[in-house]
Amino acid sequence: MSDIPVLTRRPEWTALEDHRSEAMQRPRLRELFAADPGRAERYVVRVGDLRIDYSKHLVTDETLALLQELAAATGVSGLRDAMFRGERINITEDRAVLHTALRAPRDAVIEVDGENVVPKVHAVLDRMSAFAERVRSGEWTGHTGKRIRNVVNIGIGGSDLGPAMAYEALRAYTDRSLTVRFVSNVDGADLHEAVRDLDPAETLFVVASKTFTTIETITNATSARSWLLAGLDGDPKAVARHFVALSTNAGKVTEFGIDADNMFEFWDWVGGRYSYDSAIGLSLMIAIGPERFREMLDGFRIVDEHFRTAPAEANAPLIMGLLGIWYGNFFEAESHAVLPYSHYLSRFTAYLQQLDMESNGKSVDRDGRTVGWTTGPVVWGTPGTNGQHAYYQLIHQGTRLIPADLIGFARPAGELSDELKAQHDLLMANLFAQGQALAFGKTADEVRAEGVPEEQVPHRTFLGNHPTTTILAPALTPSVLGQLVALYEHKVFVQGAIWNIDSFDQWGVELGKVLARRVEPALTEGAEVPGLDPSTAALVAAYRELRKV
Ligand code: F6P
Repeated sequence: MSDIPVLTRRPEWTALEDHRSEAMQRPRLRELFAADPGRAERYVVRVGDLRIDYSKHLVTDETLALLQELAAATGVSGLRDAMFRGERINITEDRAVLHTALRAPRDAVIEVDGENVVPKVHAVLDRMSAFAERVRSGEWTGHTGKRIRNVVNIGIGGSDLGPAMAYEALRAYTDRSLTVRFVSNVDGADLHEAVRDLDPAETLFVVASKTFTTIETITNATSARSWLLAGLDGDPKAVARHFVALSTNAGKVTEFGIDADNMFEFWDWVGGRYSYDSAIGLSLMIAIGPERFREMLDGFRIVDEHFRTAPAEANAPLIMGLLGIWYGNFFEAESHAVLPYSHYLSRFTAYLQQLDMESNGKSVDRDGRTVGWTTGPVVWGTPGTNGQHAYYQLIHQGTRLIPADLIGFARPAGELSDELKAQHDLLMANLFAQGQALAFGKTADEVRAEGVPEEQVPHRTFLGNHPTTTILAPALTPSVLGQLVALYEHKVFVQGAIWNIDSFDQWGVELGKVLARRVEPALTEGAEVPGLDPSTAALVAAYRELRKV
């Protein structure tokens, strides 16, 4: 057991509590800006192509200084350096945490157990590139000699969300002659809908699973193999031309029947939710091409370097992490909204949900002691303009404090017509207007001045004071996507370090998996499940009864 002091008893923590209850008891963004208009320029941090404006936050110079003191006292930079060095900071799984090595330059040296892992990373990237080019050029053909026109990625969690999100994000860069789909749900409808209009002879399945034991993925991959063979006269030799695997588990891959030559490897020091820039990104690479994929890795690397070397007061992931701590731990904010003003980022928040909530949804510290402080927030959100006509009402006028990130781009992505391009200004006007309305609201006097009848004034008043970070970039390029993802990866890291939790394990998903395996025979065969609680037993009985119809 370490002798790390309990977080909430650290003087830096209690100083923040005092600051909150005294200087920041009723912080008002209108007043903070009136007292210090320079904050609009000062509270901006730049990294790569990202301009991150955090001026609309309920903070002053003093708040930021106190938060930085907390980061220093809790050893964020020390843990960060240990991560980059390849130390085993994932303590419960006794693993290094080295997703940063996936985007390291060829000549870098990063050692795990005395072995430089960078050559292995680049060897796999090179194999992936060669394979992606063969598929894209038509040189890699299916069993009957037909060109591959469809790529279906089968995976779940980190083996789905990353590539699926990035495929959507970079759709403008994809080869439009290829159909790329993602199947994750063990609900047979997912695979059925993904393949129903495809020709098996033109379809490549990319089975993505770090462990190659995940039941959803193995079940879907088995059904996909049956669909393929049914469409190709049952010739088992077809599998070699239509299935590739992305995994750390060569044994299980060959056991499944996929040729080891068709496996693209990664390693146990890459967490599932941190893996789409590893072999797990193969479907994406086929879609956008190796060159674009490498541009994306360059983007990741820009932010890695920034996180590693930028001074604390100009360190974007550190600042974003600290702002989250401020609201979650000192304002009792329960959630954090991520609201991209880009249709191409429609899956971005879903991706961040796993990244953030699987990493920091923990209630014991690194020594196994129950924490006495709030940890990871509920992360949610969808593209901004759609949200405006759905749930923004609650953010504007509800009773909860919901900090939000607004993400937008100066130029539209994609080959849009001039008319559609012109819509971009309207899209971005919405982003800026929302940030303004959320921060500054509309006072009762302002509402009255518009001639609104007195009884309606309270309904039309906006208290404002809802904090937002605005992330602006020139355009959603592969590099910018890499920069954004690395920014959030490291933000999540910062928060986990301060909360003193292991952000790299995920034991919380195990229980459900084990119980599902135990309950399944009760559904299929009506088997007795020892120890099944009365409520679940009644549900299982009702299910079996209803299924008879
Ligand atoms: O949901 C738990 C989890 O282990 C995730 O962490 C992981 O991304 C996902 O399952 C899929 O795991 P695998 O890639 O091993 O199939």
